[in-house]
Amino acid sequence: MSDNLFDLSGEIAVVIGGTGVLGGALAEGLAKAGAAIAVLGRSRERGEACARRIKEASGHAKFFEADALSVESLAAAHREVLSSLGQPTILINAAGGNDPKVTVTSERPFEKITADDWRSGFDLNLIGGALLPCQEFGAAMAQRGRGSIINIASVAAHFPLSRVVAYSAAKAAVLNLTQFLAREWAARGVRVNSLTPGFFPAEQNRRLLFHDDGTLTERARSILGHTPMARFGEPNELIGAAVFLASAKASSFVTGIDLKVDGGFLAQTI
Ligand SMILES: NC(=O)c1ccc[n+]([C@@H]2O[C@H](COP(=O)([O-])OP(=O)(O)OC[C@H]3O[C@@H](n4cnc5c(N)ncnc54)[C@H](OP(=O)(O)O)[C@@H]3O)[C@@H](O)[C@H]2O)c1
Repeated sequence: MSDNLFDLSGEIAVVIGGTGVLGGALAEGLAKAGAAIAVLGRSRERGEACARRIKEASGHAKFFEADALSVESLAAAHREVLSSLGQPTILINAAGGNDPKVTVTSERPFEKITADDWRSGFDLNLIGGALLPCQEFGAAMAQRGRGSIINIASVAAHFPLSRVVAYSAAKAAVLNLTQFLAREWAARGVRVNSLTPGFFPAEQNRRLLFHDDGTLTERARSILGHTPMARFGEPNELIGAAVFLASAKASSFVTGIDLKVDGGFLAQTI
């Protein structure tokens, strides 16, 4: 066995939302560290492209179609992963994002955000974004006595960001669930942590950050003005933190923490 703290050889990582920008980068990063990757998501095209990139870089990966909001779909994907890759030891919950429909605007103030809008924000970011996958994959890890779960939170989980009200509340709940499960499963060999990315341009936040002509929105300028490093993150800048949390050797006594990769966003006051 390698004594490299960051070697994930022999691990099997399920990356839900591996079809997206951050999940895809994390899938590729964990594969480079040696893990076999199950890329899960709804988009076959983007999921297979992610698995292909991993294989082209000499890694091991396969795409499994799954809807994180459906218990049956997650269970079916889990059965397929077990029969074609083996027993998952790492779970990354990277499905989620902000839906412009549930964002406060001048035409749509807070009081007009309906309960259904709130439910859709919580469904995607808490129920599908963490809860159901933890029940499906995490509980099986706890039964086998070994695993590492990484929930993708957000700076919005720590302080409610303007406008993205349901998203912020749902991500705050992800932090809370992470701590709950860290305590619940510590004695059963499963570590549960979260990763808070700062601002990384991706599909789900493109309209908040950029005008159609590619110039920065006022919000994007305000974000950069509040980020000590004065830039957006690059998706591959999340990989080191994720490999650390995933590795049973590097972070064996670490559970229930939130690791921030945000260019200092949450450290800045005035
Ligand atoms: N980008 C940022 O600045 C930033 C900052 C903080 C936190 N985050 C969080 O990071 C995570 C990844 O977001 P991203 O920025 O990489 O956005 P993205 O590229 O839009 O990826 C989001 C992924 O979520 C998946 N997804 C949505 N609904 C799903 C469902 N029902 N079942 C399965 N997968 C589903 C989508 O996959 P399919 O379409 O294939 O289903 C998509 O690939 C999210 O939790 C987001 O909130 C992002």
